[in-house]
Formats: sequence, structure tokens, C-alpha cells
Amino acid sequence: MYRTHNCGELRIEDAGKEVILSGWIQTSNNLGHMNFVQLRDRYGITQLNFNKDDNAELLEKSGKLGREFVVMAKGIVRERSSKNKNIPTGDIEIQVHELTILNESKVPPFTIEDESDGGDDLRMKYRYLDLRRRPVQNNIIFRAKVGMETRKYLSDQGFLEIETPFLIKSTPEGARDFIVPSRLNPNQFYALPQSPQTFKQILMVAGMDKYFQIVKCFRDEDLRADRQPEFTQIDCEMAFVTQEEILNTFEGLTKHLFKETLGIELDDFPRMTYDEAMVRYGSDKPDTRFGMEFVELNDLAQGKGFGVFDNAELVVGINAEGQADQYSNKDIKKLTEWMQRPQIGAKGLVYVKYNDDGSVKSSVGKFFSDDDLKAWGEKFGAKAGDMLLILSGETDKTRKQLNELRLEMGRRMGLMKPGDFKPLWVVDFPLLEWDEESGRFHAMHHPFTSPKKEDVDRMLNGDHETMKSLRADAYDLVINGSEIGGGSIRIHDRALQERNFELLGFTEEEAEAQFGFLMGAFEYGAPPHGGLAFGFDRLCAVLMGQTSIRDFIAFPKNNQGRDVMIDAPAPIAKEQLDELYLELKEKE
Ligand code: AMO
Repeated sequence: MYRTHNCGELRIEDAGKEVILSGWIQTSNNLGHMNFVQLRDRYGITQLNFNKDDNAELLEKSGKLGREFVVMAKGIVRERSSKNKNIPTGDIEIQVHELTILNESKVPPFTIEDESDGGDDLRMKYRYLDLRRRPVQNNIIFRAKVGMETRKYLSDQGFLEIETPFLIKSTPEGARDFIVPSRLNPNQFYALPQSPQTFKQILMVAGMDKYFQIVKCFRDEDLRADRQPEFTQIDCEMAFVTQEEILNTFEGLTKHLFKETLGIELDDFPRMTYDEAMVRYGSDKPDTRFGMEFVELNDLAQGKGFGVFDNAELVVGINAEGQADQYSNKDIKKLTEWMQRPQIGAKGLVYVKYNDDGSVKSSVGKFFSDDDLKAWGEKFGAKAGDMLLILSGETDKTRKQLNELRLEMGRRMGLMKPGDFKPLWVVDFPLLEWDEESGRFHAMHHPFTSPKKEDVDRMLNGDHETMKSLRADAYDLVINGSEIGGGSIRIHDRALQERNFELLGFTEEEAEAQFGFLMGAFEYGAPPHGGLAFGFDRLCAVLMGQTSIRDFIAFPKNNQGRDVMIDAPAPIAKEQLDELYLELKEKE
């Protein structure tokens, strides 16, 4: 027997018991006549006490214990003389009378403590050591809990967990596919699923009625803190449902998860249309923990001789409350340069400060009178001490840029409070998005999304311009500015699906070759259906108030898409290449 208890469960009531514990050595504090050793496992830390009076031989043996040695200790639980109020086992220690070293350890390359001294790459290379650290371990344990509560909730609602294949044909969902060559089918390739989208729809045609799966998805796209090349979705689909029923079901799931994992009772989630979100926040995933909403100034700021504004499609700004005296000219210059970086691409930034002494100061003071500027302030509801930040230009671009500025100011002003959760449904997304560069429409959500009922006729018969105004039964769940999930009511009719492919630039043959199976299924009694998918990694991170999903994944990839622990991707042997009919090519 390796243990009678774990390292997190003994309390003062256990004093006097003989116990066996096993775990890793966190630290050892050898005072010569006494040695205090902290023994750690997933459940906690318990102090082991070795002392000369009790057992001199064992004390000496304990002196040889290095960090991360794996040991088994048998002894008596007793009250500690100096208690540690910070840990649940802090009232007791084990007076050890038998010590077995189960395995030794090399000195770890970084300290296994809450604040590690290991850089990212080192931590990832020795991920098994990193995972011993409490904060990372807590995240992984938390993730397991969220997964379990999800399964419980959805099963109780009658959802069936059904697996779908990983070796499939590519589905166009916006990113590149990861490709797998087929040995048995020379020069043919599988793609790893970007999501189980078409399969879950087929399951609805098959009468499964309510499907879910906690499932890996693979997307070969540029990586960011909230994006991994392989990530997990809580993927769902329902038959005979309206958008309203889907939103209610998954609002219910989200509330359940907050309650069971954090003990937080969320109010009903507000809803906002895509158009409204763009006008008020310049983003389809606004962080609504704070206001600082956009105010449009075209009516007040144009026609006064300031060319930049006069020629702009949109003049729009935000009010950074109480910031007037926080920003010197130099600070404003820095902020302007930050906005002008290629990632954001603003041409300039106009400010108006309403000083405490009643004076007004602005970078466009030459063009506008104090009364003009005060009228702007009124439109923003600005008070003394506030500062307006204003951008102008082409509508969509300017809104996107101001969204970045709003988020940055929100960060600087400490308005994104951890522990504050603001969920929001964004609904009525456009069906199609016109892409100037490629001269094509793209599906805003994906090609299987249905237009709103009232837009079906216009979609089937309208002209090019009409297509830009079609609205979809598509929705996203946003929490604190992070897109947690998205979904839609699907097309379940062959003619409408064909029309959508046509609008997206597929020839009839291409559509048939790629999606003949789905459109074929639609001809055999496809029920109306719809669903959504939550990003599981993102949901866990947001629940824990973190922005990076990396430490919610046991074995994540780095920014180059590499697993540095196993060193993948890696070359393969010539024989393997031959078997797959592949030839290597030099990188240009
Ligand atoms: P979508 O593409 O919006 O929808 O994905 C759903 C959710 O998955 C998460 N997500 C990611 N998380 C981590 N890393 C990534 N690379 C990544 N990409 C997406 C996001 C996102 O909201 N089949 C549809 C769903 C449906 O219509 O039912 C789909 O995949 O949180």
C-alpha cells in the first residue's frame, strides 16, 4: 500500500493516527537537528517532520531528499507547533518513522512553485513538471470539472454524445485544413475536421434529434493567446428547433456551469443585434463590463472646415472618463503612435480634454470653437476631467480601430474587472460578407447557415447588392469580450443550399464534389435544425478570468504550432514518404 491518505486531507482531528503518504518533495528545510519536508501531490501539501530525538538515522536519510524525489512516508499525525494558516493541512504534520525513496529526481530545470522561474519554452519542454505547479494543475482540474458538468447538463436535457470521425474531407470554415495522406488511396488525402459541422447536420437528418460532443477540432491558422491549432469544442445540434430554443438551452448550460464551478448565479443574458454591436462598440464581440460606448459626431464635426473630418465617412469617438489630466502631450503622442501601428492602422487621433477649470483643449482647437467642442462634450455626456478620443475615416475600418482603442483604454483604466462576468448574445449576423480583395462573398458564419425566413425570397431572387443585406439566424455568445461560441439555424433544403454555394462562388460541380453527400441527405427528409459550438478551452479560460487558453490545455502547442516536449512536427523516414507517395520539396 502506497498511501492511506493523500497530501491534502489530514486535519487536526486526525492527530494520533498512523498514516502513509506518498508524493513529491516540494522543499526540505534541514536545520541539522530537525528537518521539515513538504510533501506534495495533486491534493495538497503535508509537512513531514524528522528529528534527532525521535530517530537520528531517519533524520540523516531525510537529508538526502532532493526536490521532486518521490517518497513514501509512514508516521503519526500530530499537531504542529508553528501552524500554517495558508493551507488546509497547516495545523498538522507527520512524525515520520519509516521513509522509502520510491524514485529519485534530477534537479528540475525550473522551480515547481506557483510563480515559476521557467520561461515559456522551458516550461513547455518539461510540461510534466510544469503541470505539477499548482496554478496550471488547478486549471486542468477546473477544465475536467467544466467538462463533467457539461456532460451532466446536456445528458439531462436529452442530448446524446456521439463521436464523429477525425479523418474526413475538408469542410470550408474559414481556416486551412490539416491534411493527412492516405496510404491505401495513393495521392489522396484526408483532412482533419475544423469542426464536426456537416456530420452533426447529417445526424439530425438521421433522426438523432439532440447531439453533443466534447470534441477536438483542427485549424491551421495563425496562433494567438486564444487560439490553438487543435482545440476543443462543446459541439451541439438540435432538430425541430427555433433560434430562441437554442439560445435558451445554451444560456441554461452556461448558467449551470457558472453556478456549479464558480458558485455564481448569472442573470438572463442580454441580446444585441450585430448591427447594434458594430455601431455601439465597433465589434461583434464587445466587452460589456464597461461602457465607453461609441458616439458618432458627423452632425457636429463636419462642415466646419476641418478637411480630415469633412472627407470622412464616419467621425466617431469615445469618452475616457477622468483621463484629461492623466495624458500629457507626450502621452497623447504615444497613444497616437500606438494607434498608427500597422496592426491598427489609424491615420491619426483627435483628442478633446475638458479640464477641471472649465477650459477645453484639443488637437483640433484651430478648427473648432470652444462652443463647438463643448457641444461635442454634451453629446458624449462628458464632465470636467474627461477626455474624448476621436477617429475618422471609412466606416468599417474606423469602427474597428476605435474598438481597439476602447479596449486599450478599458485595460489602462482598469475597467475589465476580473470576477465580473458580462455575457451577451450577439444575434442577426449578416449571412454573407463581401470581400473586396477576392471579389467574392464569404459566409459570415459558415456555408450551412440559413438566412432569416423573411430573407429567403430575396436570397433566391435578389441582385448582387441585395445579398449584402441578407440577415442570418446566426448568433454568438460573448463573455467579457471573448467569443465563447457561435452557431446558427441551418439550411435544410437542397435548393437553398445550392443557391448559397452559388453565391459563395462554387460551381455546380465543385459544390456537388464537396457537399453532394449533405445535399443528397437533404433530399431524404431533413428536419429543420440548428445548433452551436462553444470553444471549450476559451470558456474555461474566461471562467477563470484568464485570456490565454494555453494553460487550460494539458499539452498545448507554442506560437509556431510546435509541441516542444515531443518535438513535433518532425521529418519522417524516406520509407514512410514512399509509402505515402510523397516527395519532399525545398522551402523557397
Ligand atoms: P466557430 O468556428 O465559431 O463555429 O467555432 C466555435 C467556437 O470555437 C472556438 N474556437 C477556437 N478556440 C481555440 N482555438 C481556435 N483556433 C478556435 N477557433 C474557434 C471559439 C468559437 O466561438 N461549426 C461551427 C459551430 C456551429 O455552427 O454550430 C463552428 O465551428 O470559441
